Amino acid sequence: MNDTDLKVAIPVLTIDGPSGSGKGTISRLVASRLGWHYLDSGALYRAVGVSAGWADIDLADPAALVRCAFDTEVGFRDDPGGELRVLINGLDATDELRTETAGAAASAIAAIPEVRSALKERQRVFRRAPGLVADGRDMGTVIFPDAPFKVFLTASAEERAERRYKQLSDKGVSVTLAGLLREILARDARDAQRAVAPLRPAEDAVRIDTTGLGIDAVVERVLARVTA
Ligand code: DC
Repeated sequence: MNDTDLKVAIPVLTIDGPSGSGKGTISRLVASRLGWHYLDSGALYRAVGVSAGWADIDLADPAALVRCAFDTEVGFRDDPGGELRVLINGLDATDELRTETAGAAASAIAAIPEVRSALKERQRVFRRAPGLVADGRDMGTVIFPDAPFKVFLTASAEERAERRYKQLSDKGVSVTLAGLLREILARDARDAQRAVAPLRPAEDAVRIDTTGLGIDAVVERVLARVTA
């Protein structure tokens, strides 16, 4: 087997879907149950957004953002509590990365084709034995089109806004449900309508609607696709 054959032999489970569909939580739990690696591709886009903010780069300056995508070093580390910490140029930026501001910046940056190309290979190197769970928007369509297992998670916008509201309220962040719903709908529209790698299920992805389902039920459904 040559290097390419070896890589293709490593299984990938892609989990795509809109923000708030539960992808992050589900993907991490599924990766841990399978003993596979985990890629949080959204964190890469968020990291470029945060890094651009640190460097005072204008979100309307695509050339500078592309340079920033190439220059930003992103590292991942599991903390003892099992949470994924994200390092930007060696600095732990996890909390800043998870803010709504970073999410909105990531969504704007993610619409720039050259930024997406700059991040492509960085995502593919996560494919390592014994397997990879890749969480994002275009994992099954663009980054790992040959993945043997593909899932597309959805949930109603209202339920996604409620989940996010609960998460943020638990952290003591003050937001309104109506405001979150507006942001979610705006982000969905931007992610689905962009010209490059828009959010859509791969043709061979299995859709799972998580509205009204608990985390464990979704994890079992996703695992059933891989172990079937
Ligand atoms: O999954 P997330 O909310 O952390 O992603 C943040 C933004 O990054 C999201 O609005 C769209 C973009 N993104 C993307 O375009 N492609 C990916 N594979 C992952 C995220």
